[in-house]
Order: sequence, then C-alpha cells, then structure tokens
Amino acid sequence: MRIDKFISDAGIASRRDSAKAAKTGGITVDGIVVRDVSKHIDPEKSKVVYLGREIVYRKYTYVMLNKPEGYVSATDDKSLPYVTELLPEELRRQELFPVGRLDKDTTGLMILTNNGQLAHALLAPKKHVSKVYYFTAAEPLESGAEERFKNGVTLADGYECKSAILELSSDRLSGEITLTEGKYHQIKRMIASTHNRVTSLERISFAGIPLDTSLSRGEWRYLTKDEIALLEGANKIK
Ligand code: URA
Repeated sequence: MRIDKFISDAGIASRRDSAKAAKTGGITVDGIVVRDVSKHIDPEKSKVVYLGREIVYRKYTYVMLNKPEGYVSATDDKSLPYVTELLPEELRRQELFPVGRLDKDTTGLMILTNNGQLAHALLAPKKHVSKVYYFTAAEPLESGAEERFKNGVTLADGYECKSAILELSSDRLSGEITLTEGKYHQIKRMIASTHNRVTSLERISFAGIPLDTSLSRGEWRYLTKDEIALLEGANKIK
C-alpha cells in the first residue's frame, strides 16, 4: 500500500498533507525518513510515524455519528441528504456504510464501518444485539405498557415482537425502550400498538456502546478500541 494512502486511510492527513510532511522529513517508516509518499509499505508490518505520532494500522474503520434529523441512512441518494455526506472526504473514500438503518426523522447513534462482514453479522436476528432508544410520545403511555412490552407486543400487521424493556418517565410521556431486534419502524409501530404516537426518537445505545453526548448532531468520531471490542463481542454471542 502507498504511504500516502496508508496515512489518509488512518484518517491522519490527506495525501497532499502527507506529501508536504514528507518533504520536510516528517514521516519515517521503520525509523528511516521517507520523502516520497508514493513508496509502498506493508501496512501490517511497517512502523509509520507521522510528525512524531505512530500510526496504528487498522484493517477496518469504525466511526460513531450523531445522526441529525432529515438524513437518510444511506451512502447515496439522489434527492435527500444522506448520512455519509456528514463524513470528511478521507472517510468517504473508505466507503463506510451505516450498520443498520434509522428513519429519516430519527436522531442519535449510528455506527458506520467498512467491515461488511461484521456489520452484516451484527444485524442478523439471532445475534440479538441490543439497541436502546429514547422516545417522546403524544400521550402518556397506558398503564401496563411496561408489562405488555415485556411480554412482546403484537404490531398492526400481526408481527409478534420479542420481549422489550420499557422504562418510562414519571409523566409516562417519554422513556427508553431496549430492543434486541430491528424491524422496520419498530418503535413507532410498537408505540402505535398502544394507541399512541411517537413524537421524537433518538437511538442512545447500540451493542452496549452509548452515544457520545459530547458529539453534536452531525458530528462524528472514531470508535475507541474498547468500543470496537464491544462490537466484536456482540458478534460472538450466538
Ligand atoms: N424504530 C423506529 O420506529 N424507527 C427507527 O428509526 C428505529 C427504530
């Protein structure tokens, strides 16, 4: 792999900036200064240091995005804003895609990666990956809703949901729902089954990874090693 590609894939600097840094002696490979970033290295074995900082090679990239309202969970769309538009060019070149979908009007935690195998596995129903949503509703939720959700509500089309945890605020107008499945419009349809309506929805956790609340809507960051381990751990659960 070319040195400038390695550096840009790691999200450290653009290819142009790496070329500049190399000219001033700012890049070493295995301790030797390299001035030509078109040279090839073995990404798994070479030790690349960029302006004094060692770059840890990761085969795949994982980021967390705080999805704003109005964006579709897609990598392209002809007419609507889409989530990967919120990522910088270096990341878009890495062809990240969202792990699962959120509705256009749903906000919050979205994980994007280019590890197709892991993303696909995490969405498999048998993995029961947990997702937590914060919602607000038009009316206070009916009494006994917690028990109904625990026993599995039946949606309008007859689908019987798996057991879900519903925790309500004291006025019963908002709360958190933990799901281990992900059907189309699931939370909205679950709340609708109680003759009520979701007025806002935000995903606040996925596979045990909480939304980083220091990210404003539309902002992103790389997942930490521990967060990636949580994703990998969730994939191991049968
Ligand atoms: N449930 C919904 O209804 N919408 C989402 O975006 C996610 C879960």
